[in-house]
Amino acid sequence: MPEIGMDLNRFILEEERRFPDATGSLSMALMAIETAAKVIASHTRMAGLVDILGKADKVNVQGEEVQKLDEFSNEALITILGDSGQFYALASEEEDDPVFPEKGKNGKYIIAFDPLDGSTNIEVNVSIGTSFSIYKKLNGTVEDFLQGGDKQIAAGYVIYGSSTVFVYTTGSDVNGFTLDPSVGLFLLSHPSIKIPEKGKIYSVNESNAGGWDQKLRDYFESLKNSGYTSRLIGTMIADVHRTLLKGGIFAYPADEKNKNGKLRALYEVLPMGLLIEKAGGMATDGEKDILQVKPTDIHQRIPIFLGSKSEIYSLMKAL
Ligand code: AHG
Ligand code: MN
Ligand code: MN
Repeated sequence: MPEIGMDLNRFILEEERRFPDATGSLSMALMAIETAAKVIASHTRMAGLVDILGKADKVNVQGEEVQKLDEFSNEALITILGDSGQFYALASEEEDDPVFPEKGKNGKYIIAFDPLDGSTNIEVNVSIGTSFSIYKKLNGTVEDFLQGGDKQIAAGYVIYGSSTVFVYTTGSDVNGFTLDPSVGLFLLSHPSIKIPEKGKIYSVNESNAGGWDQKLRDYFESLKNSGYTSRLIGTMIADVHRTLLKGGIFAYPADEKNKNGKLRALYEVLPMGLLIEKAGGMATDGEKDILQVKPTDIHQRIPIFLGSKSEIYSLMKAL
């Protein structure tokens, strides 16, 4: 078990050493994400000032114009990941089509990300995040992003909350690192995360319940009647982070209006699915294991139910 407090860079390199054939490319890819996360985290702290500075037509200390946080995060990721040379292509929630960075021509990987998840929570000072999912580059076309959740090489998220935490997996353990802002290092704080077998919390936007299938309404009613409590932050990453640590269920189901739910398969649902499953939980679209999903479009939406084994088993029985 790696020691608590280990710096993320060292952790990445020590993991790499376990694979004698590794070229170091994945390690460099992960470190580029780490750098982008630090840049976004520091700007998140300025979020409340963006409008004030923006209105005053101010420039920031680096002499750049002050931007909205989601645009800023998107550009930071595209620039930093693009310049790392490790990624042949990038797909972002904020871009209609994949971006092929000039410096990524020899990149072995492709990456999909939601640069800023929970945008509506920014102005009310509630946790926001960044999620990512890495695949091998195959043909170098948009199709490479549609390989399916079980082909993910690595996945993770960064949550900008009361502290900034970086959680990722390369397909074995799930580990979490907390940013020590005084030295600018992510330090191992949550080694080998295991989701509880059963929790006490359900997390779903119940204002949509009128449009749910009756069986689904009954399922959530049954949780209420068996002592569950409700929590919904409205930032998927924050709701998944809590579910990972405390157990229970998080869902964004389909409803009458949104036949495929709301969340995007490629850069929201599939990376969360891999993390939850590698931590010993389960994730499904209501019919099959979420990692069996092969998106048909980079911005496709799918329903998601994820969490502790106990809740997902009972959900599957109920549906
Ligand atoms: P984004 O900010 O990237 O557009 O994502 C927002 C998503 C997700 O974070 C959250 O779980 C969901 O929207 C909340 O949607 P509702 O307001 O419909 O519950
Ligand atoms: Mn999002
Ligand atoms: Mn977003």
